[in-house]
Amino acid sequence: MQTLPFTRPTIGEAEQRAVAEVLASGWITTGPKVAAFEQALADYIGGGVRVLAFNSGTSALEAALLAHDIGPGDEVIVPAMSFAATANVVLRVGARPRFVDVDLHSRNLTAASVARAITGHTRAIMPVHFAGLPVDLEPLYALARERSVLVIEDAAQALGTRYLDRPVGATGNPVCFSFHPNKNITTIEGGALAIADPGMARRLARIRFHGIEKDAEGNIEVPEWGGKMNLSDVSAAIGLVQLPRLDDFIARRRALALHYAHCLPRHGAALVPQDLPGHSWHMYCVCVDFAALGTTRPAFLSALAARGILAGIHYPAIHTFGLYRRLGYGPGDFPNAERIGAQTLTLPLFPAMELADVERVCEAMSNLLSE
Ligand SMILES: Cc1ncc(COP(=O)(O)O)c(C=O)c1O
Repeated sequence: MQTLPFTRPTIGEAEQRAVAEVLASGWITTGPKVAAFEQALADYIGGGVRVLAFNSGTSALEAALLAHDIGPGDEVIVPAMSFAATANVVLRVGARPRFVDVDLHSRNLTAASVARAITGHTRAIMPVHFAGLPVDLEPLYALARERSVLVIEDAAQALGTRYLDRPVGATGNPVCFSFHPNKNITTIEGGALAIADPGMARRLARIRFHGIEKDAEGNIEVPEWGGKMNLSDVSAAIGLVQLPRLDDFIARRRALALHYAHCLPRHGAALVPQDLPGHSWHMYCVCVDFAALGTTRPAFLSALAARGILAGIHYPAIHTFGLYRRLGYGPGDFPNAERIGAQTLTLPLFPAMELADVERVCEAMSNLLSE
């Protein structure tokens, strides 16, 4: 029996050749491949945005905050259900994350929950397109305009997601992507930031690399602090092979997700994920009421593993982690995020899977739910 992980990158000979070429070229760090990858991403996203490549999605988010001078005394609204990086970057720049609850079915924050959380200190809202499901951006941007706060989209899981039939990233605001191996495309580690404003793009480029700015003669100046957040050409070369495959990857993810929706048993203790137009199906996350079944998540995970299925957990609610409890947050604050955190299971979903793999997972789920 072949083991099914919850995710696996699709890497083929073309990626291997691209890496070998860069390694043999004599220039392996940031160079022509990064420039080409940035342009290819900008072309894919459209809307006239500029794209800067980073060494991770986390770096892109951190740079976006720094470039907008968000720091001590400021608050940034983030969903309580996301990967820890979404809130950690806010702390990293010295600002305070202000959590809001998410919708139980979309797992995304809503304009209504954000509206209640805005204070005089709020500088930005950081929506997360959870598992590739687009956040309802129109009311969120309307609210942000009305209250004069910035929107920085955490689209780490959402390259290729569409909102109102436009690719996520095309709003012109800072939108950050991740190319970690479990994402819709990978560069091993890596990230990118799409933004329309050329002045801001220039500042982001400085922050990405030691604060260095070069003039036309090649003279160097360091007008402000910058980090070390650049992507290598080796990584970008993989991205250049992966990006043209993205739409096919997403079509395959969608077909598999639809098959899950068709084959998963309808059971009172299980909640299947919401679908919406434009969803890129980065993950397939269900909720299972383990207590109602008289079991626990570790026992359920072990039973799946015994059947060769390695489910994931994405994610415990961020505000329940010790770091955030020390800021005064705690259990009971955000019931939907906490329920998702306690009940979530990520079922296998990646482009190389067959429909028969989905059926195998569904049969296992069916058995375990009826035990
Ligand atoms: C929602 C979200 N934000 C940020 C990140 C950070 O991206 P990276 O791992 O590329 O730093 C991730 C990665 O999993 C993520 O899922």
